Amino acid sequence: MVQRGAWGSNVGFILAAVGGAVGLGNLWGFAYSASQGGGAAFVVLYFVFVLVVGVPVLTAELVIGRHTKRSPIAALGQVGGARLKWVGLMFVLVGFGILSFYSVIMGWTGRLLVDFIRGSVPEDTTAHFAAISEGTGAIVAHLVGMLLTILVISRGVQRGIERVSVVLMPTLFLLIAALAVWASTLSGGGPGYAFYLHPDLSRIFHTETITGAAGQAFFSLSLGMGAMITYASYLPGHGNLPAKAAIIALSDTLVAFVGGLVTFPVIFHFGLQQQVSDSAIGALFIAVPRGLLSLGGAGQVVGIVFFSALYIAALTSAISLLEVVSSAAIDSLGWTRARAGWLGGGAIALAGIPGALSSDWVGFLFQLVGQAFLVFGGLLLAVIVGYLWKDAARAELLSGFRSPALATAWIWLLRTVVPLMLAVTLYFAVLALGPAAKALFS
Ligand code: PFF
Repeated sequence: MVQRGAWGSNVGFILAAVGGAVGLGNLWGFAYSASQGGGAAFVVLYFVFVLVVGVPVLTAELVIGRHTKRSPIAALGQVGGARLKWVGLMFVLVGFGILSFYSVIMGWTGRLLVDFIRGSVPEDTTAHFAAISEGTGAIVAHLVGMLLTILVISRGVQRGIERVSVVLMPTLFLLIAALAVWASTLSGGGPGYAFYLHPDLSRIFHTETITGAAGQAFFSLSLGMGAMITYASYLPGHGNLPAKAAIIALSDTLVAFVGGLVTFPVIFHFGLQQQVSDSAIGALFIAVPRGLLSLGGAGQVVGIVFFSALYIAALTSAISLLEVVSSAAIDSLGWTRARAGWLGGGAIALAGIPGALSSDWVGFLFQLVGQAFLVFGGLLLAVIVGYLWKDAARAELLSGFRSPALATAWIWLLRTVVPLMLAVTLYFAVLALGPAAKALFS
């Protein structure tokens, strides 16, 4: 039996888990969804969803991971017997699928970072994005991202993931804070803040706003696919898991919120509202570079900071995704970590090539594995922990947490509100698959 990895410290675990959660979803998906969902109306819904559904499911994943000390397939086998192993296997496949497109987007980010560093972003950012997002350049950038991810994973939990997270996450927080301060100096940003922070209540009761907030929260918190189970499986002892879940969820949400304080003034300052509502991807990779170009040298510096932040956020999330796949291969197939990292990561690198050739494929995969399957996974976890495994889950939770009343509330949420909300969200996520599939063939 290969020796299992372990975190060197509590802070190391928290930063790694926050690194997995904070990603492209925070810096882009959140602001975009907010812009479509009535600004602060969406933001409020999102917070409620994170508290009522996100934190309970995140806690459930941490409880399963620490209790079993296994990767998702073996962990679910231990929780529910062999008949539940398929859930763990599904998680691993979903992680594989998400990383296969996530790494392509990370590649676009890296490419724009290099372009800003070299000062070679052309005037026509639309044509530029078309050129770098599909084809050989996109494949190369995707492979570079996968290579970095594999290198970190093969070094191990403490010497790889933890060491990288402890350096990169504080750096990321600083970069984003600096960007928010810079954005506040932009003229004409006022209406941007107003749009972001004034709730348009007419939008709040739209099912799309509600389920959009739910899907975004799941993706952002990395729930429903065993990433948090995997990271928690390297936790020793009997720490306070709800406190950890709350810190992770709060940090993730705070970064998303501050990300909006960067994006909205920028969009309004440069008058990019139209381009943003045309496409989610367009705003980040086309509109923002175009705006920054108009600022000359200062814009170049901001561009470098902006795309460095995005790249760091993407890389630490990619690491958590590959760890799900690798840890399953280590636990279930008895592979060494290096072998699991290189073979697992190599297979994902190959599987990502279609995405680097077609951004519609990226969009479709996001809807399929990044939304529908995550919500489905969360629904299963809530039912498994709330109904099949509740006594053991409660005991595990209470081993490091002193409030039986809150433990009862947690189980109750997992049995009622959480599955209900997730079932409705799943329904809309499945409906959204149709248009995404259509885009593939048009
Ligand atoms: N949470 C990441 C983001 O917001 O970009 C994406 C993600 C990472 C989803 C890891 C799922 C996961 F397991």
